[in-house]
Amino acid sequence: MRVNLRGFDIRKLYLDEARQRAVLDDIRAVARAAPFFRPDTPMGRPMSVRMTAAGRYGWFSDRKGYRYVDRHPGGGDWPPIPDSLLAIWRDLVGDDRLPDCCLVNHYGEGAKMGLHQDRDEADFSWPVVSVSLGDDGLFRMGNPTRGGKTESVWLASGDVVVMGGEARLAFHGIDRIRGGSSRLLPKGGRLNLTLRVVD
Ligand code: SIN
Ligand code: MN
Repeated sequence: MRVNLRGFDIRKLYLDEARQRAVLDDIRAVARAAPFFRPDTPMGRPMSVRMTAAGRYGWFSDRKGYRYVDRHPGGGDWPPIPDSLLAIWRDLVGDDRLPDCCLVNHYGEGAKMGLHQDRDEADFSWPVVSVSLGDDGLFRMGNPTRGGKTESVWLASGDVVVMGGEARLAFHGIDRIRGGSSRLLPKGGRLNLTLRVVD
């Protein structure tokens, strides 16, 4: 099923269970090479999500602010973006340009992500592609400026969202996780993978 809400192109169950497992195995390998960490917000508070990344860039934040960085905080390179994820990008966006970053966010029960825009990339003509695995997450979609009405949708395991066009600079976030809604991750929780062209 495919739904378009405010330009957010939502593909329900884009990945069947076998493909979800294949992506999950690849993300586990990424996390072995580049372990999850919990960044501080610029306000100095620990974020509720744990993060890692693959590709030429990962995402980081601390007192100095949010930014892309070319190394894991432990000092090593980020591992390459797994083919299983590049295949999703090729399928939905094409192969004129491949993403430079696959940001991996892990939400335990109680984790959330406040409304924000993805605007630290050089070229907004490329979409951000988001892949959800594990427990359902309540995804809130807003407007290109802060405020105004929002709409929410539960993203389930295997759902993919393409944020392009009018949705590319729209505010979005995750309000809550529905614990126990998926059995994909043995310890529960939700993984969200976002593919981005950075520079
Ligand atoms: C993000 O905006 O980076 C993550 C969104 C999500 O977890 O679905
Ligand atoms: Mn985002």
